[in-house]
Amino acid sequence: MERNLALEFVRVTEAAALASSRWMGRGNEKAADQAAIEAMRRAFNFVEINGTVVIGEGEQDEVPMLYTGEKVGTGHPPETDIALDALEGTTITALGGYNALSIIAAASKGCILSVPDLYMEKIAVGPRAKGVINIEASPTQNLKAVAQALDCPLEDLTVVILDRPRHEALIREIRSNGARIRLIPDGDVSGAIATALEGSGIDILMGIGGAPEGVLAAAALKCLGGDMQGRLVFRNDLDKERAREAGIEDTNKIFTLEDMVRGEEVMFAATGVTDGDMLKGVRRLKEGAETYSVVMRSPTHTIRFIQAIHCAATIKAKIGL
Ligand code: FBP
Repeated sequence: MERNLALEFVRVTEAAALASSRWMGRGNEKAADQAAIEAMRRAFNFVEINGTVVIGEGEQDEVPMLYTGEKVGTGHPPETDIALDALEGTTITALGGYNALSIIAAASKGCILSVPDLYMEKIAVGPRAKGVINIEASPTQNLKAVAQALDCPLEDLTVVILDRPRHEALIREIRSNGARIRLIPDGDVSGAIATALEGSGIDILMGIGGAPEGVLAAAALKCLGGDMQGRLVFRNDLDKERAREAGIEDTNKIFTLEDMVRGEEVMFAATGVTDGDMLKGVRRLKEGAETYSVVMRSPTHTIRFIQAIHCAATIKAKIGL
């Protein structure tokens, strides 16, 4: 994949963030999500790829655009897998909370795992703890292994977990070990990325979140040199059926980072919608808006932060706002 495509992907996440940020704090999750999806879909028309959405906003019969299987881009080579979440953190945005992002990951055709909208148990760490996590081991065993890899007392570790009743036992076990916890209301892609960012204060992500978000996090961690494992969680037979229909035969499979995102060339781009740990949210200016994005590529592990000022006329022409 042409490395300059990275900037093209940032244009797409910027468009989605600009559009959805209009809905920040207005209590309307659906409108915020819809605005992001429509803007992202439009922006993709200008990207020189023959793209296929492998992680999208839903199935073809569920959503009108950016569905799994939809073609995006100009249709010219390279053939590219696209994983996206036009608005990761719909509730966050509606409430004006922290860490809502617009996200795209891209890799060569056939390299990104396509998963339906199911749950996934996840464990993720940064580069210094790469290779020591094991989703089949207990949380205590994983904490010990990560503490050893980071050369710190277990009590110094901070684990980020989605604040959900389903995590009660996990939280109890982590606390009994003396490790620290950051409970987040939503947005576990940000949580996973934080494990790989120096100075974020986060060492491990644990717990159950969305499977599509798991694959997006895996793409970011691949670019950042981190590590992750995931295992699908089924609430009923229908969930298992959906996994099988998506081509996942072994429903107990443990997905490594490499299973979720294969190959050497992976790109990840995100733009802040609301303020967060990694990125500021969209700022309205007198004549336009300011966005904060990050773009990463796996071959070099380079992380670029891009601050952009968009003039009002361009925003109107491109996004219709
Ligand atoms: P949305 O952007 O779809 O609202 O997802 C937010 C999120 O918090 C994800 O980051 C996370 O993986 C998932 O929802 C958790 O799902 P649930 O809210 O059902 O526990």
